[in-house]
Parts: sequence; structure tokens; C-alpha cells
Amino acid sequence: MMNKYLPQVEENRKASYEVDPVFLNRWSPRSFKQDPVPDEVLFSLFEAARWAPSASNEQPWRFILARSREDKERFYPFIADGNRVWCEKAPVLALILSKTVNVKGAHNRAHAFDAGAAWGYLALEATRRGLITHAMGGFDPDKAREVLGVPDEYELHAVIAIGYQGEKDALPEHLQEREKPSGRRELSETVFEGVFGRT
Ligand SMILES: Cc1cc2nc3c(=O)[nH]c(=O)nc-3n(C[C@H](O)[C@H](O)[C@H](O)COP(=O)(O)O)c2cc1C
Repeated sequence: MMNKYLPQVEENRKASYEVDPVFLNRWSPRSFKQDPVPDEVLFSLFEAARWAPSASNEQPWRFILARSREDKERFYPFIADGNRVWCEKAPVLALILSKTVNVKGAHNRAHAFDAGAAWGYLALEATRRGLITHAMGGFDPDKAREVLGVPDEYELHAVIAIGYQGEKDALPEHLQEREKPSGRRELSETVFEGVFGRT
């Protein structure tokens, strides 16, 4: 998919096993350029999400986009101030939600799991195309549900900022030092053998 690590990633991240660089190159910067994302590019991210696996192929994920000034103004009031300070520059915001009820009308236990997979695909396709994404759980889901007219059977998960990476210096000072790819705990603390906790 990608043949090389981005410079910031090369400095801050190291894989213990060989993987495609796209996985490490995806990270969540906060500095966005205001440049718009062309439709063909933006919709390729949702195309990637579309092909995520889901329980019984229910495809419970949904996305609500905000690109116009009018739509963004509807989003901003339900986004936490700490996120608003940087995400207002992003040309695209996308709220990810998922349908909690399956085609038979029963609760779909996998709805959030499946929406997570779709978001993961979206984020990787964005990275592959030189875009950045940043998920935000810091928003008020009740307020968002009300202003966007989201029916009760959908759960709201995150607002994703999508666009092109801007300069670190364009961020407020307190965010500049955090503007670098994070690390991860060791695989041995995550993958167990046979029973929980056995490494
Ligand atoms: C569901 C979810 C909610 C998140 N909420 C926020 C948020 O409200 N504000 C923020 O700045 N980052 C948020 N993040 C970004 C995470 O902090 C980030 O993904 C994590 O630290 C790993 O860093 P990386 O994405 O750069 O690899 C969120 C990420 C996810 C997946």
C-alpha cells in the first residue's frame, strides 16, 4: 500500500514486526490546512469504509458530513471546546454513527465493533492518499442527535476531522508539543496465549 514511513513517523514509531508502513503512517495530527478535499478523494475514503466486514453484512455504519459553512456551524456547538480550537480549520467533519438494531429488529451486538472497522478502513485510505484524519469522542452526543435529527436506533460514536496536514506552528502553543505520532505498548501486553493474561 505505501512503501515508506513519513519522516515524523520514522522519528517516533517503530514496529516490532514487519507491516505495511500505512499502519504506522496513520496518526492523528491536529494542525489542518484549510484546503478543501475534492469529492473524488473524499468519497474514496467512504468507499474504503464501505468494504469493511460487519456481522451478517448489516453495514451498521453511517456518516453525516459537514463541509459547507452552514453545516459546520451546526456541528461546532456540540464539539468540545478543546477540540474546536483545532478542528475548525479542517475542511471536512464527519460524524460516525451506527444502527443498533438489525434487519430483524433485534439488537445488533456488533454495531459499534463494525463501525470501528469502517472508521479504521477510512483512516487508512486517507493516509494512503496523503490526507490526515483525527477522531474526536469529545462532543455532546445528545446535542448532536437533536440538531442533526438522528433517530433513536442509531448510536453516535465520534466526529472525524478530515483534511490535509498543516504546520505545527499554526497550532496554539499548548498543542504544539503534542503534535507528533504516539507510541504503543508492547504486543506481549496485548496478545494472550490460550487464556486471559497468559503471555
Ligand atoms: C473514538 C476516539 C475518540 C477520540 N477522541 C479524541 C478527542 O476528543 N480529542 C482528541 O484530540 N483526540 C481524540 N482521539 C484521538 C486519540 O487520542 C488518538 O487516536 C490516540 O492518542 C492514538 O494516537 P494516533 O491516532 O495519533 O495514533 C480519539 C480517538 C478515537 C479513536
